[in-house]
Amino acid sequence: MDKPIHANHITISVSNTNRSVSLPLLEGTLGPQVADIRKLHNETGIFTFDPGYGETASCESKITYIDGDAGVLLYRGYPIEQLAEKSTFLEVAYLLLNGELPNEAQFEMFTAHITRHTMLHEQFRRFWEGFRRDAHPMAALCGVVGAMSAFYPESVNISDAHEREVSAYRLIAKIPTITAWAYKYSVGQPFMYPRNDLSYAENFLYMFKAVPTEQYKKNPTLERAMDRILILHADHEQNASTSTVRLAGSTGANPFACIAAGIAALWGPAHGGANEAVLRMLAEIGDKKNIKPFIEEVKDKNSHTKLMGFGHRVYKNYDPRAKILQRTCYEVLGELGIKHEPLLELAMELEKIALEDDYFVSRKLYPNVDFYSGIILKAMGFPTTMFTPLFALARTTGWITQWMEMIEDPQQRIGRPRQLYTGAPRRDYTPINERP
Ligand code: SDX
Repeated sequence: MDKPIHANHITISVSNTNRSVSLPLLEGTLGPQVADIRKLHNETGIFTFDPGYGETASCESKITYIDGDAGVLLYRGYPIEQLAEKSTFLEVAYLLLNGELPNEAQFEMFTAHITRHTMLHEQFRRFWEGFRRDAHPMAALCGVVGAMSAFYPESVNISDAHEREVSAYRLIAKIPTITAWAYKYSVGQPFMYPRNDLSYAENFLYMFKAVPTEQYKKNPTLERAMDRILILHADHEQNASTSTVRLAGSTGANPFACIAAGIAALWGPAHGGANEAVLRMLAEIGDKKNIKPFIEEVKDKNSHTKLMGFGHRVYKNYDPRAKILQRTCYEVLGELGIKHEPLLELAMELEKIALEDDYFVSRKLYPNVDFYSGIILKAMGFPTTMFTPLFALARTTGWITQWMEMIEDPQQRIGRPRQLYTGAPRRDYTPINERP
């Protein structure tokens, strides 16, 4: 990785002592400067304190850039709006992995690699039988992806660039099959094998929707909507699940174990589980007349109720992905001939009322990627339990890209944060008969 520019420095001095340190300020291509604090403790005996890492750059990266105030998202410098409009998920996957858009020959080779890795080892068919049919599909994704290292033992050779590339292809290629099979298992339908004649998005829709007893009918609008949803969810710099993948990867764990850790982190309702939670929230609100009382409940701290699909650690403006998803909502509903979607109307009224309320405006809480995605996915026939697995399907490409960047970064070392200890001071053990 070429070194970031050493722009200037920041001096930290500890009051009432002679301790002071000058820390280099590093400047990237875009975004705020960062203070390089790697020598802070050695020179002052002080750690920094940043629970949730909201003000901390954990790594140097060239993959994705977010400007939260301006509502900007770039994949390798390309605006998400242009990629969502003009590209395809597989082309975006190539871009994220390689840093440049492919030429025709490169894209043909990449597509061939992915297409030829979509099948699972036949023994995986029996793997699902260990799960209850009503298990959440994310449980299956965690288990099955983590188990992939048992079928590809060579993947532990993470210092081998070829093995890393093959693991990346296997994960990107097989995650749609695993996700579709998790659904098929939950509804007791037979697994559908991937087809090499279909695009990445259509192949997933086929494995999810098709049954052996009927001819499968392609739907170009749903294929385009699926592909766009995958593009929008592909990567998002150092979010919680990506940071989990990087932390797991920093120990030298194999890529399948690292991606399984990312899937587990994404599952939480504060992160990738929010799309499912938005649909539950809209169902609980039920009618426009209940919106204002619900908003009042959200504003009451004691309720601990959140407006799901709203707010973001980085975006303090409209999440650009939410805008694109709102537009995609109309396209999908129109294609499906759904003239009246109460959930969409309720969501838009909820957004309107929230964005007129100072509680949300003053805290810069806007719709995020999860606010509209669930409405589209529901209209496309996905059960709410499949919303987060679909997020994981798309984000697998971002996770494996970030993992590869970390492994190839000469500066990378095992992640090991420190702490502010406020527990008991040193004390001696007392026998139980001497305790009060
Ligand atoms: C994703 O990081 C990423 O990039 C994630 C993601 C990706 O692509 O990887 O973009 C995907 O995870 C999107 C976020 C999905 N989650 C939700 O929609 C769940 C609802 N949102 C909140 O839980 C919350 O907004 C978070 C978790 C997303 C962000 O949490 P923060 O950064 O800790 O929120 P904050 O501290 O900046 O909040 C500031 C204030 C607080 O109130 P005060 O203490 O100032 O009184 O806003 C309040 C918060 O309580 N607040 C909300 C709220 N989100 C923040 N109040 C009501 N409803 C909300 N949704």
